[in-house]
Amino acid sequence: MTGGAWKELVDEVATATELSQPWRSAFEDVPRARYVPDDVFVPEPGTPRAYRTVARHTEPEEWAALVCSKAQVVTQLTPSPFDGAPTPSSSSSAPEAVARMLALLDPAPGARVLDLGSGTGWTAALLARFGTLVVTMESDPELAAQVRARVIDCQPPVTALHGDATLGHPDAAPYDAVHVGFSVREIPGTWIGQVRPGGRLVMPFGTLFSNTGLLRLTVREDGQVAEGRFHGGAMFMWERGQRPSWAQAVTDDPERAASALDPRTLLATGASRWAVGLQVPGVTWDPVAADGDRLLRLWCTDGSWATVAVDRWNKPDGVAQSGPRHLWDEACEAWSWWDGKGRPGRNRFGVSADRGGSCRAWLDSPRFTLPGALDSTAHSRPATPLPSGRSNSATGPR
Ligand SMILES: C[S@@+](CC[C@H](N)C(=O)[O-])C[C@H]1O[C@@H](n2cnc3c(N)ncnc32)[C@H](O)[C@@H]1O
Repeated sequence: MTGGAWKELVDEVATATELSQPWRSAFEDVPRARYVPDDVFVPEPGTPRAYRTVARHTEPEEWAALVCSKAQVVTQLTPSPFDGAPTPSSSSSAPEAVARMLALLDPAPGARVLDLGSGTGWTAALLARFGTLVVTMESDPELAAQVRARVIDCQPPVTALHGDATLGHPDAAPYDAVHVGFSVREIPGTWIGQVRPGGRLVMPFGTLFSNTGLLRLTVREDGQVAEGRFHGGAMFMWERGQRPSWAQAVTDDPERAASALDPRTLLATGASRWAVGLQVPGVTWDPVAADGDRLLRLWCTDGSWATVAVDRWNKPDGVAQSGPRHLWDEACEAWSWWDGKGRPGRNRFGVSADRGGSCRAWLDSPRFTLPGALDSTAHSRPATPLPSGRSNSATGPR
């Protein structure tokens, strides 16, 4: 049953992503059922942030349907540092996202590929089946051991390592390509230094405002800088060291004013959220309810926060802002810049990253750097989020 369902899924994915025949064959030959563990986790309907285990041995049909589906399959849960709630910390990525990333990476058979964030090992196995020489790295020791066991029969052999992927693996450098299986908002300079000039890096790249970009960089001939554009969207879990963390929110009385912009306009499309996120470093948002108002809440690393009343945004007290940064003003300014540029879509943006770890975003060409800096990894979540003292119900990016 799994074989037919897998073939059907590969057909669907191949059509949607215009996958080349060699990659299509690799997907057909390496079903993810071989790599996904026996216990996987699905969200419990109606109970936010709760998961139910689907075990291969007791619910074989449900398990098989999950691994033959287009969805990402959660394979590990760990307690959230915010409130202890179970949070996905590893998964088998959605087949269509994997196919798009591998097609973007476009390695030649025989290429040396560094695969970062092994997860289940499925992507590494696909790369090997395609004929590349793969080194894969996973920071979770248990997962890394499982991957080592699962890729044992791969040809050419896969080197499966336990380690922190942000350091890369200099022993086997230079690589022709780096494939990253988690999302980042800072690009480690070590990665650039371990790829040959002309080599590629493909990674999910996001901001705390919008963790949704898929980025391909090419290392310049001087070997010092890698740059390239976004190629559509991708939603991946954060690199473990770049997960958002707690900080104390500023408790001063907020400044109140009318908003210049309807918050629904600012958040209207994926493109608007994306463009704003590239210009408001460290800022996260979520919708909350307080004192009968629907609020949009923003917060950031240094304790600054803002709320905007969604239905009363243009009233004199529609916006409350506190802390060293005026987050809502920044977001409105970022939106106006994007609007003034004719509302460019995500794929017109790109990033330049260097061996020193610096990273900047641009529009259309590396010559046109965006106003505002990109996120850095020191980020926060408000401990005391609202002046009304309501509890923090945020889930935010994880
Ligand atoms: C979405 S999963 C990757 C899925 C994988 N491509 C597959 O085919 O199963 C992301 C993985 O990255 C790992 N990870 C996150 N940060 C890491 C780091 N700094 N070093 C190594 N692995 C990391 C996580 O533990 C997780 O297993």
